[in-house]
Formats: sequence, structure tokens, C-alpha cells
Amino acid sequence: MTRAGSDGAEKAADKGEILLLSGPNLDQLGVRDVAMYGSATLDEHVERVSGAAHRLGFSVRHVQSNFEGDLIEAIHAARGRSVALIINAGALTHSSWALTDALAIFPGIKVEVHLSNPASREPFRHVSTLAGVVNGTIAGFGALSYDLALVAVTELLGA
Ligand code: DQA
Repeated sequence: MTRAGSDGAEKAADKGEILLLSGPNLDQLGVRDVAMYGSATLDEHVERVSGAAHRLGFSVRHVQSNFEGDLIEAIHAARGRSVALIINAGALTHSSWALTDALAIFPGIKVEVHLSNPASREPFRHVSTLAGVVNGTIAGFGALSYDLALVAVTELLGA
């Protein structure tokens, strides 16, 4: 896949694919609790992180689903295909051992991301079942959380 760089030159996304995963209700960003999550839509977040990734030489494949099994299958399918994975699992973060097990199988870099800061919210959001199987978690910075996740991925890949 190629895309024009800032200098106008075509730059190959040859450093590999990053799988961006979005869980339940993130398709409602832009209308859902704007005070908490901001007014940007999921498409806008994806476009922003994809653009930044392309400039660094990565391609991004985005999968959003409101169904746990779809996310699990996307993680399985990423093995041998994606070099890294950035996941905002929505509320499944706080409850899904199945998603946690699927993430544990994926051998690449894994970064958990949240727009809000779950630790400062209701008690049920204080636990992340995913936290122990990812390289790290970035939360509370709105759209910037995705940018920081991308920085973490590229640093960890040494890219
Ligand atoms: C969220 C935080 C979760 O607690 C919540 O259920 C979401 C969004 C975030 O990005 O801040 O759906 O993952």
C-alpha cells in the first residue's frame, strides 16, 4: 500500500500493519457522552491515527464491533499478519476474560488505549482484564491517547 508523504513522494507502508480494534459503543462516538469522550467520531480518530501511521511507514487496518466474538476473531486473524495491535475494547475492558485470552495469544506489540481515564470514573471501570497481557495502557488523553499509543508501538518495534 502506498500513500503520498508530506513531501509529495509516495511512501510505502512497508514497516507492517497495525491492527486498530474498537469495541462496543465506540461506533457511537460523536453523539455518545460528548463531555466524557469528546465530539470526534470514530472515523475521525481512525483517520487521524492512520495518517500518522502512514507517515511513519505503517498501514492501519481498523475493525470495530459491538460483538465480543468478532473482536476475538480479528485478534486471531492478526497473528502472522499484523506487527502490532492498538485496542480500545470499550466496556469489554472491564469484563472480558475471553478477549484477554485472545490478546495473550497474539505475539506482537499490544497497546491498550482509552479516551477517558477509567481509573477516575465508576469503580467497575477501575479493573482492566486486559492490562496484564498488553505491553502497556494509555488512558485519559482523548484523541491524543491514540497518538501516544502509536508512539509506543513504534518505539517498542524500534521502527
Ligand atoms: C473507554 C472507557 C470504557 O470504560 C468505556 O466503557 C468505553 C470507552 C474509553 O475509551 O474511555 O466504552 O474505553
